[in-house]
Amino acid sequence: MRVDRFLSNLPRFNRQQVRLLLVEKRVRIDGKIVSDPHAEVLEFSRVEVDEEVLQAGKPARYFMLHKPPGCVSATRDPQHPTVLDLIDEPDKHDLHIAGRLDFNTTGLMLITNDGTWSRRLTQPQTKLPKVYYVETEREIGPEYALKFTEGLYFAFEDLTTQPAELLLLGPTSARLSIVEGRYHQVKRMFGHFDNKVLRLHRESMGPLVLDSALKPGEYRALRTEEIQLI
Ligand code: URA
Repeated sequence: MRVDRFLSNLPRFNRQQVRLLLVEKRVRIDGKIVSDPHAEVLEFSRVEVDEEVLQAGKPARYFMLHKPPGCVSATRDPQHPTVLDLIDEPDKHDLHIAGRLDFNTTGLMLITNDGTWSRRLTQPQTKLPKVYYVETEREIGPEYALKFTEGLYFAFEDLTTQPAELLLLGPTSARLSIVEGRYHQVKRMFGHFDNKVLRLHRESMGPLVLDSALKPGEYRALRTEEIQLI
């Protein structure tokens, strides 16, 4: 939210006072004086007027996890282990998953408390490619690539999938790049050809690639430059 709106939403300042506070350089966001009324205040920002803290802010946190098979992409589940069970961090129930994976799908999972960041990563409009390694029960035919580029009609959502790129690696293995994350999308795409997906592994989401040093079940914090890529 813009800083002028953030301040005038507080009962103690009217718009005229907010303008003055900014002109008089009495407002600080994350320790830096701001006079631009458009300056952005996030839920993670520390906002001060003179020496008074109006919002303490909290640290934004970002992790990359190598999801193992047999765990649920949820923060809680009554029956199965969840990806959050693999994370040993304070206040971990503030965290959420940016782009879920099915129970037995493995690979890159991004976990954060920053909703703006995770929306940028997952919303189809951003068109960030998500790359999957796929193994199937039967041979992958030459007709698959064209159909995936054209898009498949998903009746349940009443939509046609965005163009996806398929690279054959072997008779029953391929790398598939999709820009959306519809429910069971990859399995449904191969399901169109009656071909069951036996193994599914997410290698990357946009510029973020699963760290090869992470074994299944391990995670690490993202580096600043990785966070800024999104
Ligand atoms: N598509 C699927 O079908 N499953 C996943 O876990 C991810 C993408």
